[in-house]
Amino acid sequence: MTYQPQSDFGTPAATSDAQITLTIDGRTVTVPAGTSVMRAAAEQGTSIPKLCATDSLSAFGSCRLCLVEIDGRRGTPASCTTPVEPGMVVHTQTPRLQKLRKGVMELYISDHPLDCLTCGANGDCELQDQAGAVGLRDVRYQPVETHLGQAKDQSNPYFDFDPSKCIVCSRCVRACDEVQGTLALTVQGRGFGSKISAGIASDNFLGSECVSCGACVQACPTATLIEKKVVEIGTPERAVVTTCAYCGVGCTFRAEMRGEQLVRMVPWKEGKANRGHSCVKGRFAWGYAQHQERILKPMIRGSISEPWREVSWDDALAYAASELTRISNKYGKQALGGITSSRCTNEETFLVQKFVRAGFGNNNVDTCARVCHSPTGYGLKTTFGTSAGTQDFDSVEDSDVILVIGANPTDGHPVFASRMKRRLRKGAKLIVIDPRRTDLVRSPHIEAQHHLALQPGTNVAVLTAMAHTIVTEGLVNEAFVKERCDWDEYQDWASFVSEARNSPEALEAITKVPAADLRAAARLYATGGNGAIYYGLGVTEHSQGSSTVMAIANLAMATGNIGRRGVGVNPLRGQNNVQGACDMGSFPHELAGYRHISDAATRALFEREWGVQLDSEPGLRIPNMLDAATDGVFKAIYIQGEDILQSDPNTHHVASGLEAMECVIVHDLFLNETANYAHIFLPGSTFLEKNGTFTNAERRIQPVRKVMTPLNGYEDWEVTQKLAQALGLDWNYTHPSQIMDEIARLTPSFAGVSFDRLDQEGSLQWPVNESAPDGSPIMHVDGFVRGKGKFVVTDYVPTDERTGPRFPLLLTTGRILSQYNVGAQTRRTDNVVWHEEDLLEIHPVDAENRGIKSGDWVRLSSRAGETTLRATVTERVAPGVVYTTFHHPLTQANVVTTDYSDWATNCPEYKVTAVQISPSNGPTEWQENYAKLQSSARRIAKAEAAE
Ligand code: SF4
Ligand code: SF4
Ligand code: SF4
Ligand code: FES
Repeated sequence: MTYQPQSDFGTPAATSDAQITLTIDGRTVTVPAGTSVMRAAAEQGTSIPKLCATDSLSAFGSCRLCLVEIDGRRGTPASCTTPVEPGMVVHTQTPRLQKLRKGVMELYISDHPLDCLTCGANGDCELQDQAGAVGLRDVRYQPVETHLGQAKDQSNPYFDFDPSKCIVCSRCVRACDEVQGTLALTVQGRGFGSKISAGIASDNFLGSECVSCGACVQACPTATLIEKKVVEIGTPERAVVTTCAYCGVGCTFRAEMRGEQLVRMVPWKEGKANRGHSCVKGRFAWGYAQHQERILKPMIRGSISEPWREVSWDDALAYAASELTRISNKYGKQALGGITSSRCTNEETFLVQKFVRAGFGNNNVDTCARVCHSPTGYGLKTTFGTSAGTQDFDSVEDSDVILVIGANPTDGHPVFASRMKRRLRKGAKLIVIDPRRTDLVRSPHIEAQHHLALQPGTNVAVLTAMAHTIVTEGLVNEAFVKERCDWDEYQDWASFVSEARNSPEALEAITKVPAADLRAAARLYATGGNGAIYYGLGVTEHSQGSSTVMAIANLAMATGNIGRRGVGVNPLRGQNNVQGACDMGSFPHELAGYRHISDAATRALFEREWGVQLDSEPGLRIPNMLDAATDGVFKAIYIQGEDILQSDPNTHHVASGLEAMECVIVHDLFLNETANYAHIFLPGSTFLEKNGTFTNAERRIQPVRKVMTPLNGYEDWEVTQKLAQALGLDWNYTHPSQIMDEIARLTPSFAGVSFDRLDQEGSLQWPVNESAPDGSPIMHVDGFVRGKGKFVVTDYVPTDERTGPRFPLLLTTGRILSQYNVGAQTRRTDNVVWHEEDLLEIHPVDAENRGIKSGDWVRLSSRAGETTLRATVTERVAPGVVYTTFHHPLTQANVVTTDYSDWATNCPEYKVTAVQISPSNGPTEWQENYAKLQSSARRIAKAEAAE
């Protein structure tokens, strides 16, 4: 589309069912009660001049530009703060109003630099537009005192703040408060002395509480807050709506372009997941797409000790096909496998699993969900009948009690966190179950009613103790259970949780959660109104991950918190398309739509469509592929968009598995850590260079649209197709929409999905089929997908990973807002200013016992390995617990994580590792060597780019 700014109705939409009819400039308009006169006018096509109003923020009424006249009323009220009334007669364009508005605007402009022609926002500035709209042609005043010439704050890597252009409309302050919920900005001083200030402790944005979400930049009607890229490249000429490729929130953006250059990503107001908001990653951290370290030409080598050789696409694909064929002939077809990517589109993921099943002739396909949310798939399928969260994000607006367990949404799922915080500021109650004091526990105007700081690894014990309280204190919603769940199974479960050994008091020694707190939290969840549970990897990445998911489902069913808005069980998915990767049949035992490979009827459907015979036996999971490789029976793997060496547990084991293979094909953007063991490297494309769809944590399927030509020449689905063709498969897709059509033909929950519908409707939440033609925002409304809800007894079984004299502390891991997963993308952006390295959080008591201060290098060692990193001493973690992130290959936190995994799904137990921390002189030898290698690789890449 050619460039059009997003429409702005001035004030938010009202939601009342009552309708009001009034007259504006002689035309009749009917709007919901509570609508402002400004919005009513905008909806009938009349634009009233405005500066301090915008429809993402509540009306403020400070600029006095939007004045109107209303019959029967004295004066000229501000239309943004005046609600409509029945029969009101409004005039928006009278000589009196024109004069008043011109006067107001003249005052603003008299204290504004008159440098429009050279201003970065020229042509994209509301102040400029409104000056034109009110007919201002000259400025008569020459104020003695002005704000001109004030110093710019250019500290933020992505946007500038030029106070000399500020009109103190406070849209930025309100955006930070209302939309983002960080409250980093204030208006300091009064009258002429008023100025916008970033925080109290700092005099610039970078040093303030600001988390660089960009909401203030988007809200600013002048060039005071402006993206550096707009200044550098110029204002955009066209916009393409697409979906963020970072996390499972799935924010939609307008990629605003000038020629082939991306100028900025602006959150799309109509995006149903983000409602016009974003975080720093989606809005700003896309520079990796053109990073000099991107590999754009295919490369091959005979062995991993040889240097890479650049070759043509044809040669690389022919070599890959010949190697795969040779290995299949020599070792048998079970010696091959593949890994799909949760960062790639549904269509690409579908093709990779099809390539393995139809091309290799086995089911050795797995995905990174193995290491994150596979227990969600297992647990929710078992209890409810479907492997996905139950709610849409809007649902949180109706929650009364929000229980967050094992998730850190302000860092991991920031835009959803902002929506959740908005609800909490309006009065919903909060329970946080987490070993660490996450930001959500206490943030501006929010304080958790209960923070249960449990011992890592005791989720099941805590949830069982909560269930004990609910059952033994008579707080079960029996009517719901009797109607919707299997009553016999409920009774078995109820008698299990009621046992004295499962009481909060009995389990306190294990969980370290005071029994009284736990009981109070359980009562609040059961009786506080609509109770919603949100959880993350702190639930799943445990040896009892699947049990924890089922324990959560049990709690929700017992309290009747399923099947309507405001309630539910909601996994906060990590990667942008991890839901989609699972939906598309990436697991070795399931075809698309979670249908077991052993089901003959389902197999027959796929066999007819694909023209091949499918293996009826489930294939190998990632850890089994690696084990089989070290055993010498698994020899070749195709890995699309996944750095298993960095993201999977026990790095040494992953390395020896990869090293034992004869053909490792890595298909990625960068030479990642896994590529150290690869024989063939196929360059990947970014989300900006491809068409397709992602499915977010709400089961929302959203379009990904190509905004620029792939630098490597091909979209990822094209590369997989070419590889399949080289292997002799007769694939002839010409557009990803054809792949989606095939998915829809083969997958009942996607039956009504097509690119055309997505273009028309923006997004669809599966299931989309005959019984839910418009999709399914809320699941299990009239009954569970599996029929009756299934209560499962979840006995607490302690992990085999125990602390002891050698390893007395428990390590748990997580993410930070500015970085993403293994950091391959975000480390190649300016986000590194916020997080240059992984740090180890340690409690002051544990630090003092070891003579460790903040900033010291420490050795982190476990039974699996050791690494070094710097320490930060903090009370965010409890005594006995340490915490770090895993974003930097130099730290490789997974060197220390163990092979223990979830009993049902093999999901690694990242969240509990017994470790010791001791002072260290600095990085280990391998880390130093690695750092040297990286810096020389960077130098070479820079030199090549300069040539
Ligand atoms: S920085 Fe922009 S949004 Fe904030 S008060 Fe100034 S002009 Fe308004
Ligand atoms: S970028 Fe976001 S967090 Fe920072 S000041 Fe602006 S609105 Fe607040
Ligand atoms: S919250 Fe997630 S989807 Fe949204 S902009 Fe941030 S990283 Fe992207
Ligand atoms: S837009 Fe109404 S007072 Fe500013």
